[in-house]
Amino acid sequence: MTTITDSLTVAVIGAGGKMGMRVSNNLAATDHRVAYVENSPAGRQRTLDAGRELTDARAAVSDADIVVFAVPDLALQAVTAELVPQMKPGSIALTLDPAAAYAGLLTDRDDVIRAVAHPCHPSIFLRRTTPEEYADTFGGIAAPQDSIAAIESDDPQKKAILDATVRAIYAPVIDVHYVTIKQLAQLEPTLVETVACMIGALLNEALSEAVNTMGVPEDAARSILYGHTQVALANGLRGDNPFSDACHIAMEYGRESIVKDDWKKIFRDDELDKNLARMLHLDSIER
Ligand SMILES: NC(=O)c1ccc[n+]([C@@H]2O[C@H](COP(=O)([O-])OP(=O)(O)OC[C@H]3O[C@@H](n4cnc5c(N)ncnc54)[C@H](O)[C@@H]3O)[C@@H](O)[C@H]2O)c1
Repeated sequence: MTTITDSLTVAVIGAGGKMGMRVSNNLAATDHRVAYVENSPAGRQRTLDAGRELTDARAAVSDADIVVFAVPDLALQAVTAELVPQMKPGSIALTLDPAAAYAGLLTDRDDVIRAVAHPCHPSIFLRRTTPEEYADTFGGIAAPQDSIAAIESDDPQKKAILDATVRAIYAPVIDVHYVTIKQLAQLEPTLVETVACMIGALLNEALSEAVNTMGVPEDAARSILYGHTQVALANGLRGDNPFSDACHIAMEYGRESIVKDDWKKIFRDDELDKNLARMLHLDSIER
C-alpha cells in the first residue's frame, strides 16, 4: 500500500465527545495538524481542559485533508449537510460508524470521498503483557487492536491517507481490514452489537437472576461466570478445551430455551434495514 510521508491536516468534529476525545488524544500525539471543533459547552470545556484549541467548523473543514465526523449518529445527517459542502475538493469525509452512511443519510459530493472506520477493540485473545494493556479494554490507549475500514475510492493515495488516519486515531493498531460500507454494517451493528453485545448483556442478566432471584452468593456466581465465560469463548471461537458430553446437553437445552429458530434472519438486508432504522430513529430506510 502507498504510505503517507507528509503530515496531514485533520479536522475533528465533535472533539469533546466520547470518541472525539479518544481520537483527539491520539491525534495530538502525532505530527498531523489537527483542528478541533465542538459545539456543546461541556464538550468545548473538555477540549480546552485537554489543552487543545477550538476552531470554527467551516474554517476547519475547508482546510482539511480528512474530516473525522465524531458526532452522534443522529446528528450526522444535519452536520454533514452543513459541512460537506465546505470541504476541500479531494478530501475525505470519515465517519466512525457505518449506520448513517449505509442508510443513505449523509450528504455526498462527487469530489469528496466517503469513508467509514470502526475500531475492532482489543481481542479477548490478545497476548497482553503490561498492566496498561490489561486496563485498556476499549483500545486506543495501550492495548493493540485492529480496525475495519471502508472507502469509496480506488485512489491509492486516498486509501493511504485513510489508513494513516485510522492507525493514528485508534492507535496502537495492528491491522486495518478493508471492506465495503455494507459489509461494515453487517459486522457492526449486526455481528457485534446485535449478537455479541446483546450476549454480554444477557450474561449480566443471568448473573443477576442467579444472585438476586435464586439467592446464590454474588462472589461465587461472579467468579464461576467470569471463568466459564472465558472457557466458553475460547471453546466457541477457537475450539480450545473441548466441553464435556453433559455440557453439550446443557448447551442444547439453553439453545432450545433461549434462541429463536429463525435468529439468523438478522443478517438479511431487510432486517439490517429495520435494525438501522431503529438505531437512527427513522420510520424506515429509503434507498
Ligand atoms: N462511543 C463509542 O463507544 C463509539 C465507538 C465506536 C464508534 N462510535 C461512533 O462515534 C460517533 C460519535 O459517538 P460518541 O459516542 O462519541 O458521541 P458523543 O455523544 O459522546 O459525542 C458527540 C460529540 O459531538 C458534539 N457535536 C454534536 N453536534 C456537533 C456539531 N454540529 N458540531 C460540533 N460538535 C458537535 C457533541 O457536543 C458531543 O461532544 C458515532 O458515529 C458513534 O456511532 C462510538
